[in-house]
Amino acid sequence: MSNTQSSDSTETLPDSADGVARAAALLAAGGLVAMPTETVYGLAADARKDRAVARIFNAKGRPRFNPLIVHVADVEMAKRYVEWSSLADRVAQAFWPGALTLVLPLRTDSGLSPLVTADLPTLAVRMPAHPLAQDLLRLFDGPVAAPSANPSGKISPTTADHVAAGLTGRIEGILDGGPCPVGVESTILGLSGTPTLLRPGGIPQEALEQCLGQPLEVYQNGDALTAPGQMTSHYAPGASVRLNADALAEGEVMLGFGAMECTLNLSPAGDLVEAAANLFGHLHALDAMGPEGIAVAPIPETGLGRAINDRLRRAAAPR
Ligand code: TXA
Ligand code: MG
Repeated sequence: MSNTQSSDSTETLPDSADGVARAAALLAAGGLVAMPTETVYGLAADARKDRAVARIFNAKGRPRFNPLIVHVADVEMAKRYVEWSSLADRVAQAFWPGALTLVLPLRTDSGLSPLVTADLPTLAVRMPAHPLAQDLLRLFDGPVAAPSANPSGKISPTTADHVAAGLTGRIEGILDGGPCPVGVESTILGLSGTPTLLRPGGIPQEALEQCLGQPLEVYQNGDALTAPGQMTSHYAPGASVRLNADALAEGEVMLGFGAMECTLNLSPAGDLVEAAANLFGHLHALDAMGPEGIAVAPIPETGLGRAINDRLRRAAAPR
């Protein structure tokens, strides 16, 4: 086996058939493995095993009432765990594999650990597009629960190094698939009732509305209990974050967008897809400079800009 051993017994697994085989074996043994997806790295465990799922919450310091997304290899596998529907079929045809999570009624015979759904009657499912995630899901051939692979409330990981910095010693392995190409988490679409955007993400709201032929309801923080995990403060760097900034204050570094002077620029060309891919990496890098604050330039509230602004608002929220 060509995996290397890092400190505190977290193995770094290479982007190879051996690496995927080792990751699948660790999952089968009830272990925790960070896996690359096209959005962010996920912290994976066998969704049928209570102890493995409980260890996810412990490793992240995640509140138990915040449910997890189950990752599947294909639509057939999804149908084993949720009550599928024609609307689910329509959006899955259009956007799977990809950065879209569907919330559907949980099947009573799903066999999943109740910790996965935090006892909700619904389940979030996603078929990721990253080739390594697909290889792992096919080889493991079972449901994989995976939240983002960061300590709860902190900046999400888009490289294996980000994962290692937050979780080394707490998990068995990290499958290194390089940087995540999309860079923000999946869009979460609620389909257990009226189609509702529960979290903006890598698939733009506009694209979903076009596919469904109707406008979506949009979940607002504080609405009922539809998305219990939509905590207000999240993605928080060590430094404070100030949004819609046009100039620097004392002690700040600047996260820019579009042609401007700044410390790091999400996209000098003003491209929202490039900006999403750079978002968490730039936040990690600016935070590592140890500033008092991070000032962020305005980002347009359209397409992927909605997901970027959602993450930035949470990063800036009172803690
Ligand atoms: O791109 C992604 O979605 C990444 C990758 C790893 O797949 N995963 C991710 O997981 O972002 P996490 O746990 O960081 O965020 C999942 C969100 C949480 O806000 C959780 O509350 C919500 O999904 N969620 C999970 N199950 C739900 C359900 N049944 N109903 C409503 N929201 C749910
Ligand atoms: Mg997360």
